[in-house]
Amino acid sequence: MAQGTFHFPRGFLWGTATAAHQVEGNNTNSNWWAWEQEPGRIAQGHTSGLACDWWGGRWREDLDRAAQAGQNAHRLSIEWCRIQPAPDRWDEEALDRYREIMQGMHERNLTPLVTLHHFTLPLWLAEQGSWENEAILLPWEKYVRKVVEALKEYVTLWCPINEPNNLAYHTYILGLWPPGKPSLSSYIRASVNLMRAHALAYRVIHSLQSQARVGSALHYRGFEPARPWFPPDKWMTGALKGAFSDAFMTAMTTGKMPFPFNRRIPEAKGTQDFIGVNYYTFDNVAFNLLRPREFFTRRYYTPGADLSDTGFIANEPLGLYRLLEWGKQFRIPMIITENGVEDADDRIRPRYILEHIHQVWRGVNYNWPIKGYFYWSLVDNFEWERGWTQRFGLWELDIETQARRKRPSADLYAEICRENGISSEMVVKYASQLLPKLFPDV
Ligand code: FCB
Repeated sequence: MAQGTFHFPRGFLWGTATAAHQVEGNNTNSNWWAWEQEPGRIAQGHTSGLACDWWGGRWREDLDRAAQAGQNAHRLSIEWCRIQPAPDRWDEEALDRYREIMQGMHERNLTPLVTLHHFTLPLWLAEQGSWENEAILLPWEKYVRKVVEALKEYVTLWCPINEPNNLAYHTYILGLWPPGKPSLSSYIRASVNLMRAHALAYRVIHSLQSQARVGSALHYRGFEPARPWFPPDKWMTGALKGAFSDAFMTAMTTGKMPFPFNRRIPEAKGTQDFIGVNYYTFDNVAFNLLRPREFFTRRYYTPGADLSDTGFIANEPLGLYRLLEWGKQFRIPMIITENGVEDADDRIRPRYILEHIHQVWRGVNYNWPIKGYFYWSLVDNFEWERGWTQRFGLWELDIETQARRKRPSADLYAEICRENGISSEMVVKYASQLLPKLFPDV
């Protein structure tokens, strides 16, 4: 058996990612809280409720877990409706609470990466048309200024908006997220406003903090042509990738947002200090004339793929490699801001983690500028329209009792973080079936 270690560069960020609404609990003033109360919106009628009770103080014990497990960074988000519960009111106590959390991260040697908007809006803004209404840009600018002023003592890594592409898609194409309004024109308007908001935040943050590093976090779903020799499959794959993620990337690099948006957003040009990559899985794409509603494609996971509990994610690590290979053309640092799998019994998670981090290492080994990896997520948390039916945590959460239980993957990830790499011993210990793949005999 071959033995060895895939090393990462010194200073590599190893963390987990969370989002305010998914972990804090009792986020009653947000559009998502209201949405969850409507029958039929969330799987099995679940609600976020107390979530992981971070607002009640359990962030301390969870960040203790992260730090004790060798992590040196954590990505979390700030809840706008707590900071600004009404248009004319700032809640200084809420800001103090976030300052305390940031300080807590420093005390635990966890570098914070802070997201300013992760899908949820104050109710009062949702009532004014959310991201569809460009009037949101004014309060957004004020909110960003307020938060950055309050937290800049502790934070230099910022991500203004989590997955603007996925937010617009789930809200205005699928209609699964509030206000649940499938409409192509709303989709286009909201997407453009989200890019304008990103650009605005980029400038506000840099004007307040010279050492800030501000990046994106797009959702990169991989798309691969089902039949690479068949041009229509290739065209449709390109079109899907183009519309879903590349158009947003192009907006932030060139200031022009191409088809289907067709808008100039000059202020967005050059507004990424790093590329944040949220990657989970990829689809095979076959051209199909009989499916106009699915943009003339049939999308499916590779037959026999290694699937997560609910079939939501296929373990396709090569997609992450291809994405990083594509991302390196932009010549700015890349951070994997989310990657993970739902798996209550920790059946596939160890191999999912090992194989994905191995693909990250391949990129690192070519000297691509990859600076960090954040596993989604630290503890099971509220998964949007899928409620509590999906368990992404390194730690299991009992939502009735708030008890946490460590999954084997938490130990595996701790070993990776401490070693700053993947060793053959870890593979033997946690997913021995991968040994011939990751450490082949020569
Ligand atoms: C991402 C979201 C994150 C979480 C994971 C599973 O798209 O950014 O909040 O729900 O999916």
